[in-house]
Amino acid sequence: MSSILVLYHSQEHGNTGKMAQAVAEGARDAGADVVLFNTNEGRYDIEQYRAFNAVAFGTPDYFSYFAGTLKVFLDDWYIAKLSNAAGLTGKPYALFFSHGGGGAARSPFEKLFAQMGTQIGTIVTSAGTPSATVVAACRELGRKLAGAI
Ligand SMILES: Cc1cc2nc3c(=O)[nH]c(=O)nc-3n(C[C@H](O)[C@H](O)[C@H](O)COP(=O)(O)O)c2cc1C
Repeated sequence: MSSILVLYHSQEHGNTGKMAQAVAEGARDAGADVVLFNTNEGRYDIEQYRAFNAVAFGTPDYFSYFAGTLKVFLDDWYIAKLSNAAGLTGKPYALFFSHGGGGAARSPFEKLFAQMGTQIGTIVTSAGTPSATVVAACRELGRKLAGAI
């Protein structure tokens, strides 16, 4: 069975977490085995990342940048890749993003995560509480990601 990691930060209202759940539901509907990890609850062990077939990343906009814990993830990923790139590069990936009305973090988020592999679909963005439309778009993104494996 294909395995998908949904890696996200959610803290303030749980908005990004709701989007992550919807991405996971879509991927499971399409037959994937999904692991959800909120980096607000601890540092992600980069060695675990190697085994996944695809990954979805989600972040809130915090001070016009993506969440600090995802920056730590990216730093860990880059440093691990220098000594052994196996399983760390070239995965299909998808992005989702929550903001409070500004949303300037979208650009650095898309730019820095572009090095992770091949983007599937387009980023799903949401202002505030995810609407039914946003939740449906996240489910569809999860399905697409699972279909890309
Ligand atoms: C520390 C902090 C900084 C924030 N900075 C921004 C910002 O620069 N631009 C913006 O649009 N929203 C900003 N927000 C609002 C959050 O992006 C928004 O509420 C988001 O939905 C929170 O996601 P979460 O509930 O998953 O943590 C900020 C929120 C916090 C807590």
